[in-house]
Amino acid sequence: MSRVVVVSGGGTGIGRAVAASCVKDGDAVVIIGRRPEVLASTAAEIDAHAIVADVGEVAEAERAATEVAKRFGHVDVLVNNAGGNALLALTDPAPATSPVARASAAWLANLRSNVLTAVHLTEALRDVLADNARVVLLSSIAAFRGSGSGSYGGSKAALHPYAIDLAAALGPRGITVNVVAPGYTTDTEFFGATMTDQRHDLLVGQALNKRAGHTDDVAATIRWLTSPDAGHVTAQIIQVNGGALPGVDEAAGQGPWPGPRGGGSGFVTGPWWRVGVRDRPLVAAGQGPTTTTARTATTAPARRPTHRAAAGQGPTTTTARTATTAPARRPTLGAAAGPGSTTAPGCGRLELPECRRSRC
Ligand SMILES: NC(=O)c1ccc[n+]([C@@H]2O[C@H](COP(=O)([O-])OP(=O)(O)OC[C@H]3O[C@@H](n4cnc5c(N)ncnc54)[C@H](OP(=O)(O)O)[C@@H]3O)[C@@H](O)[C@H]2O)c1
Repeated sequence: MSRVVVVSGGGTGIGRAVAASCVKDGDAVVIIGRRPEVLASTAAEIDAHAIVADVGEVAEAERAATEVAKRFGHVDVLVNNAGGNALLALTDPAPATSPVARASAAWLANLRSNVLTAVHLTEALRDVLADNARVVLLSSIAAFRGSGSGSYGGSKAALHPYAIDLAAALGPRGITVNVVAPGYTTDTEFFGATMTDQRHDLLVGQALNKRAGHTDDVAATIRWLTSPDAGHVTAQIIQVNGGALPGVDEAAGQGPWPGPRGGGSGFVTGPWWRVGVRDRPLVAAGQGPTTTTARTATTAPARRPTHRAAAGQGPTTTTARTATTAPARRPTLGAAAGPGSTTAPGCGRLELPECRRSRC
């Protein structure tokens, strides 16, 4: 198509797949990332141009944009893909660090990683966007169902109104701005060493098509969104997750899940998080320790509050490569269950009517 395409985070994972598909279409593609060697190797393999920059920094985003403008004069497609759950890369703060300070560090890191990266690059390139250009921002299923810590999902959710406002501002020029929100996607560096077989199976099980997403699934959606065919599609948030957001209804006999509730399970087991603000002792009775598994974990993350009754919540056991003792759970909301509560078949947990589709 011979367009000028800029993909932040184009050195690996989803960004690399997007960049490669654009190169195949005949576009001139610029990939941006922080690690020079990763970027150089991808650029050579897929025949793209590389610009090393941390777009979480204003000056670096501006420098990258100036380089693009000097070299190509304009941009037809901007894919703001750089990001990830910053908690997975954070190192353990000093044990004395207060819970509030930890939460603050988590939020700042994820806002920088997922919001500022997109905002800086978009604003830096705004004046060189061609008429009828396409802007895409990468959100996540976590923006809809939580990410365990709040900060990753919250940072992704912040992109949604930004995209809508941008779409309004740029729409008169024919420019579309959309958000793509993937679910669990393999062949990326997103999870680092934190993915376990158990969690992989859990996430795959949540998808209605019973498979993980692949980077090509996301790239294909972005390819269509950036095509001339999608000129009337703007200010939309498009999910690519195999139906994992609605998930399966465990009340229909497909649950309960073998591990932590799906919404928070995917993104919270980094080493920093294991000692994070949610690892607090339980106060409710009958919520003793559970045994769980991980490839390398020594202590599993605390679970999210559930709606189950306090009674009958003895220890549960799941298989593991390395059995470990999980921290006690947080107090549940079971005691608040009022009239109209039901017990889901096969679940054994007390569910509130409004959360029949929750995964406990
Ligand atoms: N994989 C999933 O399951 C999944 C699910 C939902 C959403 N997502 C989102 O999809 C996007 C792509 O992630 P991915 O799964 O493909 O993981 P990935 O392989 O880790 O890709 C992220 C890329 O972004 C780059 N990057 C990160 N921060 C940057 C910064 N400040 N400046 C420039 N480049 C930066 C990284 O390279 P450097 O480290 O070299 O900079 C890396 O190439 C992310 O926004 C992620 O949140 C992923």
